[in-house]
Amino acid sequence: MNEITIRRPDDWHVHLRDGAMLRGVADFTARQFARAIVMPNLTPPVTRAADAVEYRQRIMDALGAGADFTPLMTCYLTDATDPEDLAQGHAEGIFTAAKLYPAGATTNSANGVTDIANIYPVLEKMQEIGMVLCVHGEVTDPDIDIFDREAVFIERILGPLLQDMPGLRVVFEHATTAEAVAFVGITGPNVAATITPQHLHINRNAMLVGGMRPHAYCLPVAKREKHRLALRKAATSGSRKFFLGTDSAPHAKEAKESACGCAGIFNAPYALESYATVFDEEGALDHFEAFASLNGPHFYGLPVNEGTVTLERAEVEVPALVEAGGSSLVPFHAGQTLGWRLRA
Ligand code: DOR
Ligand code: ZN
Repeated sequence: MNEITIRRPDDWHVHLRDGAMLRGVADFTARQFARAIVMPNLTPPVTRAADAVEYRQRIMDALGAGADFTPLMTCYLTDATDPEDLAQGHAEGIFTAAKLYPAGATTNSANGVTDIANIYPVLEKMQEIGMVLCVHGEVTDPDIDIFDREAVFIERILGPLLQDMPGLRVVFEHATTAEAVAFVGITGPNVAATITPQHLHINRNAMLVGGMRPHAYCLPVAKREKHRLALRKAATSGSRKFFLGTDSAPHAKEAKESACGCAGIFNAPYALESYATVFDEEGALDHFEAFASLNGPHFYGLPVNEGTVTLERAEVEVPALVEAGGSSLVPFHAGQTLGWRLRA
């Protein structure tokens, strides 16, 4: 197969930021995707429907002329989220989903949830109205090794939560472990997962062998090879439970190349090319459309997109740097050649 045409895909997890950075990165996502679930971890976070309406407008204003892109907004859950406000924002079509960040788990999560018990009334309301919960699935206890934080989250938090609320619709965001793949596999159709390109391409060696490589650092961190293989198998399996979510998370080059470097990989510019390479390597291009364009809408209960995109087998050189909003960003695959190209 030398080219593949699929329905226009969506990105079910992206960080578009705000201000100059937003204006610098928005078109990279809009060029590849028709819609995206936009993460709310701004400073301050997007916690109310009115914030989301304004943020959505700033995203629309940041897009180049002629862009055909719909941002799907999310609500950042805190210990103080009011169930009725959230439900109203959902009913009004402002919030597509709500995001659970355990406090301290990642970038701008300080206002996140300190104890899942604190938001049980919110989650019960979400279960009742069928609103999707997007989960950053890592515990933050200092005594839990960072490589175990996802598996422990499933054991201690998500498993018990779904026992209490078996109808809650959950997207396990950026799954990075075999445990997450197995958990999503055995739960009902109300539980699904997104998978990033980086977790399909790299394991933790990419971050640590031959020197520390901050541009391979994101959260949850890449794990052992066996986990990468489990993720590749899940993503390319054709199962409806797994779909595309880039977690593209731009940080200026110098903010990553620092004594305390920021977590996040900016993969938006070549995300589809990166995913297509994986599906090709796995001999699973026939399942690419389901992963990129069908499973996400199916889970969220949204229509699939009109129109198509075509990827062709051709070399694409990923630049060492991308300029955006006055910052230099090091994109995922910087300096590498990918074997698939998105046709303009
Ligand atoms: O690597 C990450 N970067 N993981 C997250 O969960 C947040 C993101 C960011 O906002 O930079
Ligand atoms: Zn993210």
